Formats: sequence, structure tokens, C-alpha cells
Amino acid sequence: MSSKKSFTLTDNRNGKSWDLPVLDGSTGPSVIDVRKLYADTDCFTYDPGFTSTGSCESKLTFIDGDKGILRHRGYSIEELAVQSDFMEVCYLLLYGELPTSEQKSTFEYKITNHTMLHEQLNTFFKGFRRDSHPMAIMCGVVGALSAFYHDSLDISDPWHRMVASYRLIAKMPTIAANAYKYSQGQPFIYPKNDLGYAENFLYMMYATPCEEYKVNPVLARAMDRILILHADHEQNASTSTVRLAGSSGANPFACIAAGIASLWGPAHGGANEAVLNMLETIGSKDNIAEYIARAKDKNDPFRLMGFGHRVYKNYDPRAKVLQQTCHEVLDELGIKDEPLLELAMELERIALEDPYFVDKKLFPNVDFYSGIIFRAMGIPTSMFTVLFAMARTVGWVAQWNEMVEDPSQKIGRPRQLYTGEVERPYVKLHKRG
Ligand code: SDX
Repeated sequence: MSSKKSFTLTDNRNGKSWDLPVLDGSTGPSVIDVRKLYADTDCFTYDPGFTSTGSCESKLTFIDGDKGILRHRGYSIEELAVQSDFMEVCYLLLYGELPTSEQKSTFEYKITNHTMLHEQLNTFFKGFRRDSHPMAIMCGVVGALSAFYHDSLDISDPWHRMVASYRLIAKMPTIAANAYKYSQGQPFIYPKNDLGYAENFLYMMYATPCEEYKVNPVLARAMDRILILHADHEQNASTSTVRLAGSSGANPFACIAAGIASLWGPAHGGANEAVLNMLETIGSKDNIAEYIARAKDKNDPFRLMGFGHRVYKNYDPRAKVLQQTCHEVLDELGIKDEPLLELAMELERIALEDPYFVDKKLFPNVDFYSGIIFRAMGIPTSMFTVLFAMARTVGWVAQWNEMVEDPSQKIGRPRQLYTGEVERPYVKLHKRG
């Protein structure tokens, strides 16, 4: 007798049936537990791109793609973006609750006191060409952290995991700013312990030893909000990369370096850089129709960067907040008619009226407006994905910790549908055609 909490699978080749348990979450889609499927049926499931596959259980982030909902530990991204700050969201993701005032101060103090890099790590940058893409530097230097911090590599030790997590969250802005300074031929600027997280990053980016530098508080607040909006996003490609790397027992620094590499792709975190390049290529509103047509042309590889999402089939809630933040930053900087923003808004208007985009539910995503804000702040396009990685580090380490602490966790080892040659005898060289 099948239980109400199961799916019955029938093999029509031999009439055999199996009951597959259905597991319910606290909200969102239930899952069909197929862990015993291969042992029972001698078949694998097949889901390249994981469009219908849940890879893990998580309590961190919930997304409802149809409704455009994003929550971290139950709190909506809209509320967190407006009422919280990035350090508080980091604490929430790591510990599951909003911190008390004392918890928040202690957490900020610990993060602040991990922002400096080992002095020898600063020499790593000199191994790169000055025109290296900063994401290449991030992959290299973050991975190299495991060569320096041997006292936080034992993933079975909760203290080691906590210290490594704090070090990664704290040092990413310093590494990111150093990557920028290196590209400019300017000296690295050390973090200041009396500055907030986002403020410290902008200080390290733009201060020089030659004069005092005061960060614009409106820009610091905007950067802090952007970090919140990019902090975590369920089992996206880079987070899944971090989890898979971590499932082998690799150290946290190596896992986060793997996540950075995955985020770099233009289909993922690299899209914010690609959006700016796309807008600059389109150039004017007169050319929008041509590029919309190219985006719709199956034979043209061009895609409207910053549009579409595997999960959101509605407006990405982060894009809405970023659009508002974009106007605030441009107003603060006295930038009136930013042509790229005008172009982006016209492109969005036209696309959202086009049946192709409407029918395929392709809406602006988190990457569509972020680049315009970064550009207005004077951040070079090549640094956009670096800032995404900086923000997402807390999500990666929170997901990594959750995976390591999951008692059911195993090494990730997918199987395949093999369609290659079946067995054949070796042919000696002189007998080959
Ligand atoms: C991020 O996963 C996350 O959560 C990621 C992220 C996070 O916070 O971690 O939200 C961050 O990566 C946001 C996405 C940034 N990427 C881009 O903006 C690049 C442009 N977008 C596309 O490459 C695409 O929409 C993806 C990669 C985002 C999603 O791809 P899917 O889910 O695999 O969808 P698909 O490629 O199967 O597209 C479905 C259809 C296809 O047409 P058909 O083959 O069905 O006819 O929609 C079309 C696609 O051709 N399509 C687009 C399009 N995106 C999808 N057509 C034109 N322009 C686009 N941008």
C-alpha cells in the first residue's frame, strides 16, 4: 500500500514498482528521495544542469522564483536591505538569528581584527601582470590563504571552521582592494579598525598615503546594501561548487577559491561585468531593437546579459532594490543623465513588453543594475565580479559550514549516462588506418 508521503515508480519494462519517499520542507517544493533508486532499480536519475534536483537540505536561504521571494533565515531581502546592515546579515547567515547588540559588537570586532593580510601574502600580487583580470588574482590569492593559516584548516574542529570563516569574510575586501591598487600601480592601503566593513573597503580602494581620505557615507551605505543583496542565494552554481569541493574535505580557503572561479563565468557572477560591456556595445537607444532581435535569434549566441534566471520567473527582488539604489547613488554623486542608466531602463522597458521575454519569463536579475552603480562609484568594470565574490563569501562559508555540520553529508559524486564506445580491442599502431 503506497503511503501518502511517497511517489510510486513503475518500471514498465518488467512491471516492478517502488515507493519513493516524499520529504517536505518548512516551505517550498517537496522532494522525492531517490537516494536508494540506483540500488533498487539499477538506474540513475538524469538531470544535467540540476533543473529538477535538490542537492542538499538547507536552512539558510529560501527563494520562490514564481513570486520573486528571497529570504535569509526567514527574513525578506527587502527588509534586510533597508533595515539591516551587512555585518548583521553575515551574523544571521552564520548563526541563524539576528544578533543582540552585544553579539553584533563582538562579531564586528572579531571581523575587523582579521582584515589585515599576512605581510608575505602581499608579495603574491607581484607575481601577476599589472593588467591581470582581478578575478584571476582573487582565485590565486584566496587559494593561497591555505598556505598561511594552518591553524584553521582542520574542518572537523568547529573552532578552526569559525576562525577560517571569519578570516575569509574579513580579508576578502582587503584582497579585492589590493587587486585594484595593484592594477593601478598604487601602494596597498591597510584597513583601518575604526571603519565599518563597506566603508573600509572603499577606503582601501581609494585612499592613498599622500592625503587623508574620507569615504562618502552615502556611498558606504549603498555599498553595504549591495553586499547584503549579493550575500547568499541558495544552491547557485558557485555555492554548489563550494559545497562539492568541501564534500571531499578540502580546506575552506581552497573551497572558496573554487567558488570564486565558478562565479567568474558570464552566465553567473560575471554577468555584471558583461552587462556593462553589453550596454557600452549597444551604445544608444537606437540600437536596442537590433540587440533584442539578436537575443531572440537562436542562431546568435548573443544573450541579453542581466536578464533571465534559473529560479526567478518573476522580477528578481534584488534587481528592484538595486534599481532604487542606483537612483540614490547617481543623485548623491550629482550624476544627472547617466546614459547607461537611461539605456538600461529603456532596454528593460522594451524587453518586458516583448512576447519572447514575457513568454520565457526573462526578467532583469541581480546583475542588471549593479554594474551601473559600481561604475558611478568609480569602480572599474573588471572589478564588478570581484565585489560580487566579496559579498558572496559569507554565503559560501555559511553554506560550507552547514554542509560540514550535516550528519548525512557524503562526498559529492554524481554518475552519468554513458554514450561512448562500448568495449573494443586495442589496435597496434602499424595496423591503424
Ligand atoms: C546570477 O543561480 C543563481 O541564483 C545565480 C545568481 C546568484 O545570486 O547566485 O542569481 C546570480 O548568476 C544571475 C544570472 C546572471 N546571468 C546572466 O544575466 C546571463 C544571461 N542570462 C542567461 O544566460 C540565463 O538566463 C541564465 C544562465 C541566467 C539562466 O539560464 P537557464 O536557467 O539555464 O535558462 P536557459 O538557458 O535554459 O534559458 C531558457 C530559455 C532559452 O530559450 P529556449 O532554448 O527555451 O528557446 O530562455 C532563453 C534561452 O535561450 N534565455 C535568454 C536569456 N536567458 C535565457 N534569451 C536571451 N537572453 C537571455 N538573457
